[in-house]
Amino acid sequence: MGHGTGKIGYGGTQRLGMPVKYDEYYSAQDHALGPAFKEVIAFFQNLELGQVLDVGGGQGRDAIPLAQMGHRVIGIDQSSIGIEQLKNAAVSQHLNIDAKVADLCTYSPTEQLDIILFDRTRHMITNTIERENAFSRYLHFTQPQGHIVLIDERKNMAGFHTCMDEHVNTWSITYVKPTILIATKEA
Ligand SMILES: C[S@@+](CC[C@H](N)C(=O)[O-])C[C@H]1O[C@@H](n2cnc3c(N)ncnc32)[C@H](O)[C@@H]1O
Repeated sequence: MGHGTGKIGYGGTQRLGMPVKYDEYYSAQDHALGPAFKEVIAFFQNLELGQVLDVGGGQGRDAIPLAQMGHRVIGIDQSSIGIEQLKNAAVSQHLNIDAKVADLCTYSPTEQLDIILFDRTRHMITNTIERENAFSRYLHFTQPQGHIVLIDERKNMAGFHTCMDEHVNTWSITYVKPTILIATKEA
């Protein structure tokens, strides 16, 4: 795993291995971000089981229920505390989750994925160019007919739409709500 750097939401570049903002947050409480959204769970329940990448997945708010459904999940996050908690949950519940400390700006999976999930993660990259590059890179890591699931606050969704509009030849938007966008890659 490379020790890359990435801009994070509260300014400044953090190096992996150094404490990050969410370490403190995750240390203070389990399930710090609450339960997964019902719509997200419903979407995954209707899919064939596959290989999911949860980008900036934190403590596993999404990764854990998806693995409980039978999906194989890779969860990456720059918070070593969140990743440790996710690893512990995976072991204690016998879940197929590969949890890794990684910077989403530099991480590349070793295999093509069926579903990539960004749940309130993209906006954390404060540098605009890094943010756009980081996100569009992930579109290439998905299998044909794979999906990308993008969740964020309303004010952060415009960037997702702009990026997907630039890839209309290869991606179709299959579900839109003010805080959710799901797109599917052409066969
Ligand atoms: C708002 S939290 C969302 C966590 C999780 N997706 C959820 O919905 O519970 C944002 C997460 O992005 C992670 N993060 C921020 N910048 C990152 C980066 N450059 N690389 C990897 N993870 C990052 C944070 O550590 C944090 O866990």
